[in-house]
Amino acid sequence: MADLHWYKIEEEIPEGDFIRQVVVAGKKLCLLRHDGIIHLVQNTCPHAGGILSGGWCKEGMLICPIHRYSYHLENGRGAAGQGDYINIYPVRVENDGVYAGFRKSLFSRFFG
Ligand code: FES
Repeated sequence: MADLHWYKIEEEIPEGDFIRQVVVAGKKLCLLRHDGIIHLVQNTCPHAGGILSGGWCKEGMLICPIHRYSYHLENGRGAAGQGDYINIYPVRVENDGVYAGFRKSLFSRFFG
């Protein structure tokens, strides 16, 4: 993961399972903990623009609240038959907070 830029998420991280929108350097993303594991994914549903942080998780899938399309938290793939995916981002938990990893090229595109 040497080609990643780690960016601290400057927001309070709740205990237990949660799902919420976070802003990382001006970019809205969806941060969640499901079954004790923190995940960071894009916040806009590729189907029709639903806000994924308004959804919920079930059995390792993130469910969009609008039409209930679902996405694997581990690899971002849509459920069978959907033919779509969401972007997922590496997360690192340190003593001083949670960090999001962006490929350096992607980080430049997002944040200049
Ligand atoms: S907008 Fe997310 S499932 Fe349709």
